[in-house]
Amino acid sequence: MRIGTPLSDHATRVMLLGAGELGKEVIIELQRLGVEVIAVDRYANAPGHQVAHRAHVVDMTDAAALRALVEKERPHLIVPKIEAIATDALAEIEAAGLAIVIPTARATQLTMNHEGIRRLAAETLGLPTSPYAFANSLDEMKAAVAKIGFPCVVKPVMSSSSKGQSVLKCDADVETAWNYAMADGRVNYGRVIVEGFIDFEYEITQLTVRAPDPASGATQTYFCEPIGHVQVAGDCVESWQLQAMSPAALEKARDVSAKVTTALGGRGLFGVELFVRGDDVWFSEVSPRPHDTGLVTLATQRFSEFELQARAILGLPVDTALRAPGASAVIYGGLDEAGIAFEGVAEALAVPGADLRLFGKLESFLKRRMGIALATGADTGEARERAKLAASKVRSVATK
Ligand SMILES: Nc1ncnc2c1ncn2[C@@H]1O[C@H](COP(=O)(O)OP(=O)(O)OP(=O)(O)O)[C@@H](O)[C@H]1O
Ligand SMILES: [Mg+2]
Repeated sequence: MRIGTPLSDHATRVMLLGAGELGKEVIIELQRLGVEVIAVDRYANAPGHQVAHRAHVVDMTDAAALRALVEKERPHLIVPKIEAIATDALAEIEAAGLAIVIPTARATQLTMNHEGIRRLAAETLGLPTSPYAFANSLDEMKAAVAKIGFPCVVKPVMSSSSKGQSVLKCDADVETAWNYAMADGRVNYGRVIVEGFIDFEYEITQLTVRAPDPASGATQTYFCEPIGHVQVAGDCVESWQLQAMSPAALEKARDVSAKVTTALGGRGLFGVELFVRGDDVWFSEVSPRPHDTGLVTLATQRFSEFELQARAILGLPVDTALRAPGASAVIYGGLDEAGIAFEGVAEALAVPGADLRLFGKLESFLKRRMGIALATGADTGEARERAKLAASKVRSVATK
């Protein structure tokens, strides 16, 4: 593996499709390794745009626009950071040998909706998942719900951040859930997945890295320590590492994660979402990229999930070791306004073991994630208290 000089004709060029707060951290790590980075998002001055060599504003669901940009910028690697991308164009770019898609174009196609990845995990790989059925209309959904039973979860197949998702407890919930799914899916494909509700004790993200073994150069699977998290209304509000698990559950979690990431292939970091109860583990879904619950690794690991991703995609060795138990807590905008300011930053950073990321988003919404507080501690309990305390010190204020 050779890394060229940025901004020269032998630069190592990486293009990120999606330049939010997670992309921004990956870009910073690539910059540290002397990589030339091109950041793409649908709006100007996105967090990642602010730290890249070049920034582009493109509708990434537009296959022709995406192809034209790749032909112009000639990246060696393309790193999709979001799901709403013309993945067919990525497959053509990969097939034409124009660039390597991370981890693979097929992985981005399979994971961009709940159906592809669910069928791969449950039907091809035989991994434990919730029972499920698909439906294209209200009538089909009624039949699917009858088959799965209550309680169940309905999700538009094309959605993220839990948009359009609801938990159904009885027949009276069915029509509301269908209408909600149709109104709130990311792209309205008129198709939903009905999943049996898993009464899990806790859920984890198993960060899994496919990177070269330094001795042989062959791609090997590496695991980070499990990350526990709390989801509220589709947002990760808190995460911590490590989440204590029984040895049997940990072994199953890693086995499931190894199987699904091996099937997706390529190199890079994956966030495998799993539900756990006792020694039982269910596969939920996987992101073939850093995961929002993994922001905690900025505080806890020798190399954060972003550094691990940067290294893995460049074919460099990784080390997934934990340094200290830690936690993250979200900082919401709290205001619907552009150009806000943050107060209380010094107080937040005065909390022992605390750190902060403010993402640099230009516009704040009440529930938009604008930053994150991080903390380490003697154990995850202390770290969680510190992270929440630090987050609570940061206040957004209007500047107009
Ligand atoms: N079958 C289920 N049983 C119990 N809880 C579920 C089930 N499916 C989803 N959930 C809960 O809803 C959350 C979001 O679900 P999921 O990850 O499938 O949706 P998503 O739209 O991809 O959201 P995100 O982008 O936030 O990951 C899960 O983390 C879990 O807390
Ligand atoms: Mg999820």
